[in-house]
Amino acid sequence: MEYRDVEYIECDEVYPPAEDTFLLIDNLILDENMDVLEIGGGSGLVSIFASKHANSVCVCDINPHAIKCIEANVKLNASNNINVIESDLFENIEGFYDLILFNTPYLPVAEDEHVDDEYSKAWDGGVDGRKVIDRFIKEAKRYLKDGGMIQLVQSSLSDNDKTLQMLTTEGFQAEITATEHIFFEDITLISARL
Ligand SMILES: C[S@@+](CC[C@H](N)C(=O)[O-])C[C@H]1O[C@@H](n2cnc3c(N)ncnc32)[C@H](O)[C@@H]1O
Repeated sequence: MEYRDVEYIECDEVYPPAEDTFLLIDNLILDENMDVLEIGGGSGLVSIFASKHANSVCVCDINPHAIKCIEANVKLNASNNINVIESDLFENIEGFYDLILFNTPYLPVAEDEHVDDEYSKAWDGGVDGRKVIDRFIKEAKRYLKDGGMIQLVQSSLSDNDKTLQMLTTEGFQAEITATEHIFFEDITLISARL
């Protein structure tokens, strides 16, 4: 498969590139000097695309199947400026970045519908859809250079206003920079600068 000149394979137990992935790629704010960190890389498509337009990319995922998938796609594209790390958010991340990306697990999932497996971590945002988003917003600033940016994808189902408010409290200037209506929700891209 191919998107925006990146070849990729989809992998079992790994989130396949979808509308939210493409919304992020199509609206990335990148330049060739940037060091980029992607949290939750999935198949690696976003990071591989970013690596072609930035200085370096570090990409992590909590799902070990995703790590193998990213590595396979990095090899397929002969990318040589991408570092792949298994990590729960920033747990194993070092250094400072110009841009941090995260297509978050943003769907609200009731407690009795929660499934405790690797694949579900791609979309399960807990009862209010914010379980991972809130942790991410509180931790991200520590890994950004001065003037650095965050771009995160979520849904109207997981409270865009709360994200904008939390980012403002953390010292960011934040706004919704792209949206796409899909089925019963709006997918939103929120961009925030320190
Ligand atoms: C919606 S998918 C996005 C995948 C890929 N970036 C894309 O856009 O196609 C969310 C990804 O975040 C990962 N993830 C969920 N919680 C995480 C956490 N706490 N730390 C790191 N990655 C996480 C999931 O395993 C999944 O690969």
